Amino acid sequence: MEKDFSKMALELIESSKAHENYRSEECINLIASEGLKSPAVKEILSLSQDLESRYAEGENDLEGHVKERHYQGQKYITKIENCTADLMKNLFGCNWIDVRLVSGTHANLATFKGLSLATKSNRMVVAPLSAGAHITHDYSGLAGMVIGLETINHAYDLDEMNIDPDKSATIIKATRPGIVTFGGSLFQFPHPVKEIAEVAKESGAYVVYDAAHVLGLIAGGQFQDPLKEGADFITASTHKTFPGPQGGVILANSGDERMERAIRKVQNAVFPLTTSNTHLGRLPALGLVALELKLYGAELAKQTVKNAQTAGKYLFDNGLKILGEKKGFTRSHQIAVDVQDYGGGRKIAESLEEANIILNKNLLPHDDQHNRESPSGLRIGFQDVTRRGFKESDIKYLCDLMLDVVKGKRKPVEVRKDVITLRQNFKGIEYGFRSVNEAVDHLKKYA
Ligand SMILES: Cc1ncc(COP(=O)(O)O)c(C=O)c1O
Repeated sequence: MEKDFSKMALELIESSKAHENYRSEECINLIASEGLKSPAVKEILSLSQDLESRYAEGENDLEGHVKERHYQGQKYITKIENCTADLMKNLFGCNWIDVRLVSGTHANLATFKGLSLATKSNRMVVAPLSAGAHITHDYSGLAGMVIGLETINHAYDLDEMNIDPDKSATIIKATRPGIVTFGGSLFQFPHPVKEIAEVAKESGAYVVYDAAHVLGLIAGGQFQDPLKEGADFITASTHKTFPGPQGGVILANSGDERMERAIRKVQNAVFPLTTSNTHLGRLPALGLVALELKLYGAELAKQTVKNAQTAGKYLFDNGLKILGEKKGFTRSHQIAVDVQDYGGGRKIAESLEEANIILNKNLLPHDDQHNRESPSGLRIGFQDVTRRGFKESDIKYLCDLMLDVVKGKRKPVEVRKDVITLRQNFKGIEYGFRSVNEAVDHLKKYA
């Protein structure tokens, strides 16, 4: 073998090991889009390695169960997929799901494509990117460039940091889209779903709520429940506030002819239009997270939001500009901070990274939307530290460390020592099971 090739392979193995230690042992993670799996969920993922190699192409029914598979060797795979679907449906109180999506992007792809086929419309009303919508919703991303949808923006109220319900209703009535979408990536306050859903449906649209960021908070009853407020479909990732394996889901209630037509089109857009293998190895882990959130989801979501609000207030009281101040800073797991006065989002995110505090720069609603490389803001998420056991006083101490860096009181390398010590004080992962056996023992009490 050539020397260079073996050097590269060795570097790959060493970097993989080093990464695990760096991000899971030495850093404090405040990236709002990244979840933290329990030891039991990690264990069941490692026990699902055969599934990781398998295929299960085929059709599902209107309950989200397996209807027909085109491969042999399915006797357990079918049970696994059906059980996962049922656990998730139970958790979210709905009667249809598709668990075959490999990501939140895939969930949006299949849903937007399926609904544009069901409505024969290529128009979609979405929150503007500047208001925190995800690139998959936008004309410049998946919706426009891949599916060919014409996107029209909801009206956005900068002051309220939210979609303007009255003006958006007027836009929907005038443009009669096939899809109206809510939800986003910079997402602190519930969107006005119940105010707009009826108008959207009367105008011939299906209402989609992208819960990629807030799925775990919805499961815990700490954020708006979109299906109860009138959304037809939820699309989501399963690895942000929902602390599972990387993947996606689509949820809905079937039951009338309108929804059945749409669900069939969405299922068709899942398979055969956009999948062959569905990354089956993640399904047992997904089901196990549904169990964890059934038991601990309310407590986890409540503490997550409390921690985000605590950070918002503490940083604000210490001189930082936090968006949404008059509305209590946030009702989700994340806050948005304007650090333009300290050099902007990129500079501060890089300085914090030097201190082993990992978060990301973010465009804020008032920024020039083309200036993605140097936005004025930071987006900070508290779902990871909450699951590690951080309570309000720990959050305040973490904020002190961040303030030292942001305000240049101490060099990031000096702060890093304190960050590592703080991280080492939180060895466990809470609101979940420590092992698959612990979950089984718990379940046996009820069986
Ligand atoms: C609102 C929203 N939708 C969709 C996605 C895409 O999800 P995934 O990364 O699972 O493809 C994201 C990613 O962060 C998101 O924030």
